[in-house]
Amino acid sequence: MNYHVPIMVREVVEYMAVKEDEVYCDCTVGGGGHLCALLKETRHARFIGIDCDPDAIRYAEQVLAPYSDRCSLIEDNFINIGLILKQHRVSSIDGVLFDLGVSYHQLTTPERGFSFEREGELLMNMSPSSDTLRDKLLRTSRDELLNILKKYGDVRQYRRIGAALYEQRRNVSTTSDIRYIVEEHMKGRYKKKNLHRVFQALRIWVNDELMNLRRGLNEAYHALKSGGRIVVISYHSGEDRIVKHTFREWAKHARLTVFTKKVKRPGQQEVEHNPRARSARLRAGEKCVCC
Ligand SMILES: C[S@@+](CC[C@H](N)C(=O)[O-])C[C@H]1O[C@@H](n2cnc3c(N)ncnc32)[C@H](O)[C@@H]1O
Repeated sequence: MNYHVPIMVREVVEYMAVKEDEVYCDCTVGGGGHLCALLKETRHARFIGIDCDPDAIRYAEQVLAPYSDRCSLIEDNFINIGLILKQHRVSSIDGVLFDLGVSYHQLTTPERGFSFEREGELLMNMSPSSDTLRDKLLRTSRDELLNILKKYGDVRQYRRIGAALYEQRRNVSTTSDIRYIVEEHMKGRYKKKNLHRVFQALRIWVNDELMNLRRGLNEAYHALKSGGRIVVISYHSGEDRIVKHTFREWAKHARLTVFTKKVKRPGQQEVEHNPRARSARLRAGEKCVCC
């Protein structure tokens, strides 16, 4: 089975516009699909690939083995991009890609605990070195949990569901337990949609995704050369809002030329082929030469 089907590959290649003899960074390697497409664009450009999930790095090492002479893969959080580049004696890069969220592999591997459709332990952490959902649930307050469901998931009936989850937090041990609580405390239709929202909110919380994105974007911007490109694909309105506002702020201070005045969405054909692409939003820009 596929590790992950990369989304909007043509657009990523177009906006990254990789050139020979330059250095680029893919901050979210996943199954290496985007990275492979970018590697194929040139014969000499060098790439650094980062992913905090050791499964992704192991898989990408196999897929990208033919390019190992000009592609280094690193298991780390992308917020550490500055340090990673320094360790690889790279002073600045010509382009950076973020393809946020989870991979198909993470979502569909039951033991990882990301999905309400597959029973698994309460993990949901992309990196084994960060806290699991169980750790977080045991430390949370009722208000924090309610806020997370509302803010990160826009969960309908978040008060009722959050309160029940909080009450049961010491008794739940699998994703099915959480599913059961959500279904039991939800009135009306759209159960599946609400389950999806609850699980998405918990995942964003467990992995500190919005905070990492803010820090990652700033660190990546600092690592970019003048004229370097930044491309970001997000799958959640909270993420896209951060990217949009960050780009807008940079543009206001003449630090970035934004290529995507209107956010780019995948074409109908791609969505038909790969329904997971439907929520993708791509934004791209170029660091201004004066910076
Ligand atoms: C949508 S997948 C990327 C798919 C990839 N572009 C491809 O073509 O296969 C997102 C990946 O980003 C990784 N990731 C998410 N947040 C991260 C972070 N803060 N630091 C490093 N990797 C992260 C996840 O582990 C996951 O493998």
